[in-house]
Amino acid sequence: MRYVSDIAGKNDPTNRPRRKILLGITGGVAAYKAAELVRRLGDRGIEVHVVMTEAACGFITPATLQALSGHPVYTSMWDGRIDNGMPHIELTRDKDAIVIAPATADFIAKCVHGLADDLLSTLCLARDCPLIVAPAMNRQMWEHAATQRNVAQIRSDGVTVLGPDSGDQACGETGMGRMLEPEALAEGIAAFLAPKTLLGKRVLMTAGPTFEPIDAVRGITNRSSGKMGYAIARAAIAAGAEVTLVSGPVSLAAPVGAAMVRVQSAAEMFAAVQKHVAKTDIFIGVAAVADYRVAAPRKHKIKKTEEDQLRIDLLPNADILGWVASRPKPPFSVGFAAESRNLDRYADEKRRRKKVKLMIANLAQNAIGADDNEVSLMDDNGTHRLPRAPKDAVAVEIVRHIAALCSSTKRKPR
Ligand code: CTP
Repeated sequence: MRYVSDIAGKNDPTNRPRRKILLGITGGVAAYKAAELVRRLGDRGIEVHVVMTEAACGFITPATLQALSGHPVYTSMWDGRIDNGMPHIELTRDKDAIVIAPATADFIAKCVHGLADDLLSTLCLARDCPLIVAPAMNRQMWEHAATQRNVAQIRSDGVTVLGPDSGDQACGETGMGRMLEPEALAEGIAAFLAPKTLLGKRVLMTAGPTFEPIDAVRGITNRSSGKMGYAIARAAIAAGAEVTLVSGPVSLAAPVGAAMVRVQSAAEMFAAVQKHVAKTDIFIGVAAVADYRVAAPRKHKIKKTEEDQLRIDLLPNADILGWVASRPKPPFSVGFAAESRNLDRYADEKRRRKKVKLMIANLAQNAIGADDNEVSLMDDNGTHRLPRAPKDAVAVEIVRHIAALCSSTKRKPR
């Protein structure tokens, strides 16, 4: 028997790069979102095998899920495609988890009582892997005392409940009970399955650009979407770290579980880092910090008519990463080098100059604003190149590398 703490905890017994789940779809309107969920899980390298209840097939066809998952879809206890004729046992034996999405009120009630009258409910009862449910139902059904009792019971039985969310419902009502959106669900499932390589580690990060005001409406900034930094924050949280994310102005959703510190200027970012650094095990500077600030920003908007030529005096900003890495007892420090040419040489020089354990090098023109990235990891052992991949996948590799380096680096006691 594998327990949740084994599969999701630091004693990850499988240590497999590719995770496999069984996605159980039950009969709710949100079943149509399962198609998108399969894709989002695939983007994260998770292999999905689908089982549907008869009611689910009334909302979305097995053929759709088969095409998207790339694997046969099972709907019946009497399916002859499993060699030993025992689909209700066999289908979960090589899986890391069963995920029921959407999980109707009725299906949750069946799980609570151990009912096993179709393939999916029997698989849940006969499973040897963790169970995750994503409830989806009308708000009155969700709020009903029976449902609340059942949800409390499955939680105490060790089942992980993701969601529900509140908002507009298919029935026209508004309230709690919507299934989480596929992206949020995929993130929750990936986090659940990730090996907990940074369990108990406190990670302080900077991400996004900084904004240095010139006047009330204008400013100097660097091009940075924050996507890479936010992806690393999510991957670190999934790996069990406690993450404080000091973020410049970006239009991204905060990573679930991160302690957010929102700043505008490099000076504010530096102050936030100084405030939090003492309790930090790992510092990751991903922010594109402006190297200069305006010496005397104007309180009011500068009018064009006021001056023919505008001169702005700039003063250098503090090097936040350099400051962190040169503290007497520095955290394990990681920097990013975004260069437009001579990538390896500039990045390695920067690594030595800033005295960081790991420098992640990428070409600015390949990375900024994109959803993919191609990076090289430079440390004392040399340069490790990662193939171009979605930033979420690159972030997982970066976190894996940091965890490996940290565990092989003995820190001086504070
Ligand atoms: N960094 C920082 N504070 C600064 C400038 C940079 O913390 N004032 C960090 C970045 O977050 C990144 C690393 O230092 O992790 C490298 O940033 P980069 O802008 O590439 O390097 P610079 O030191 O600014 O060097 P240059 O602009 O000459 O390339």
